[in-house]
Amino acid sequence: MTAPWWQTGVIYQIYLRSFQDSNHDGIGDLKGVARRLDYLAGLGVEAIWISPFYPSPIADFGYDVADYCGVDARFGTLADFDDLLAQAHARGLKVLLDFVPNHTSDRHPWFVASRSSRDHPKRDWYIWRDGAPDGAPPNNWISDFGGSAWEWDAVTRQYYYHAFLKEQADLNWRNPAVQAAMYDVMRFWFDRGVDGFRIDVLWHMVKAADFADNPPNPDYQPGMGEMHRVLQLHSTDQPEVHAIAADMRAIADSYGAGSERVLIGEIYLPVDRLMHYYGRDRAEVHLPFNFQLVDAPWDARALATLIAGYEAALSGGWPNWVLGNHDRPRVAAKRGQAQARVAAMLLLTLRGTPTLYYGDELGLSDVAIPPEQVQDPRELREPGLGLGRDPVRTPMPWDGTENAGFTTGRPWLPLNADWPTRNVARMAQEPDSILALYRRLLTLRRARPALSTGDIALLDAEGDVLAYERRHGGERLIVALNLGERPQHLALPDWARDCQPLLSTVAGAAPGGDGVLLLRADEGVILKAD
Ligand code: NOJ
Repeated sequence: MTAPWWQTGVIYQIYLRSFQDSNHDGIGDLKGVARRLDYLAGLGVEAIWISPFYPSPIADFGYDVADYCGVDARFGTLADFDDLLAQAHARGLKVLLDFVPNHTSDRHPWFVASRSSRDHPKRDWYIWRDGAPDGAPPNNWISDFGGSAWEWDAVTRQYYYHAFLKEQADLNWRNPAVQAAMYDVMRFWFDRGVDGFRIDVLWHMVKAADFADNPPNPDYQPGMGEMHRVLQLHSTDQPEVHAIAADMRAIADSYGAGSERVLIGEIYLPVDRLMHYYGRDRAEVHLPFNFQLVDAPWDARALATLIAGYEAALSGGWPNWVLGNHDRPRVAAKRGQAQARVAAMLLLTLRGTPTLYYGDELGLSDVAIPPEQVQDPRELREPGLGLGRDPVRTPMPWDGTENAGFTTGRPWLPLNADWPTRNVARMAQEPDSILALYRRLLTLRRARPALSTGDIALLDAEGDVLAYERRHGGERLIVALNLGERPQHLALPDWARDCQPLLSTVAGAAPGGDGVLLLRADEGVILKAD
């Protein structure tokens, strides 16, 4: 049986506002994405995941949805979406949408109705509670963006719950009518032909029925962000969420076993809890996002332990890996340019589905945003802690023309200062650019099943070297990564003594060795051993 596309292919995350503008307003849009589909197909990715484009007041840049079945005029029209989907499919690219089921905008008609009166039939679609006897919020739950997670409604004299901004009211997923309405939203997009969803904050969707206070976090340090004052024990990851994830999976599967519609869950949890989201009695999401590489120390032994621990925990679930996304610092900012190349090799050679964040293929780094240009509500609410997400959401630099070809208007966020040299057109001409490396890695991955669906086994290694074997049938490959800036060596196993290099992150011929692989500073290599 051949493996489904979501196991063999690479997913590319498009932060829509910043990818390509087509109508001169300084923000990216759907027609812009359509213009860049040849680039994406040529890069060698299998699927794109597009951040939310639904009608929205943009309090949290589209993660505050006011209509789940439409397209915000800023991003285009439903016809533009249909056209994009058809054009993507014509190129063999799958399209995943961002589904935001935990909360709606406070302007969504459902919430407007819900807050209109305590007796409205939609009152129970959201989470309304009386205050404490002294008028304080119902409990100590803290918004992920700081401050109490409860907002007082002076008209109906109750609080509503919002895990994020007060403009993002949490739906009450214990209400069957909410479930039915949101499942219809999934069907609306599946019927249009989308290939799956990335599900926003899946582990937040159900809250403890008794709304008990969250316990204090013993490891809290000032500067972490106020949300970390408490452990989100009762406000997230409740057992009842699993039936909902399973229902969603059943809907995806109802589109036919062969059509392979995929669900990816955004879940920030320790590995043991993350594993539950594959499903036990009933299947849940295909890919619970594995964010471990985002925060892991860049240390060979620590990464080996992490990989082994994740692999051991999977018990049949298909793995996946992420280096960065629109909420977290970019890999080049954390590891530097030389190690960003090593990280690329790691991401694209581990067992499991990789998700590649737009611009990482250019080595794009975080862009410092002057205070007067800050847009992200996360930064505006808790400034100066380094929690803001604007630096990782800057426009994609395409070429050497005005605004790097992103827009002919005024870009909504500043470009990377090095855009005249760090852009797609320029780097596509440079044989040793990180973009060229990504292309080679993606090509190799497509050509060699060992790198996508093959088994993985860690190899004994010392110092800064992380090494593993990938194996499929008779094909045996070795990946050896030097995570440091000093040369290293790796004693090759006997079966690999005559191996041949297939690809290096560093230009020029690698020094040979007799049964010993010499790795230059910041070098990652893929070797063929069969
Ligand atoms: C997770 C998204 O990735 C983030 O960008 C957003 O702010 C929150 N969920 C709220 O929807």
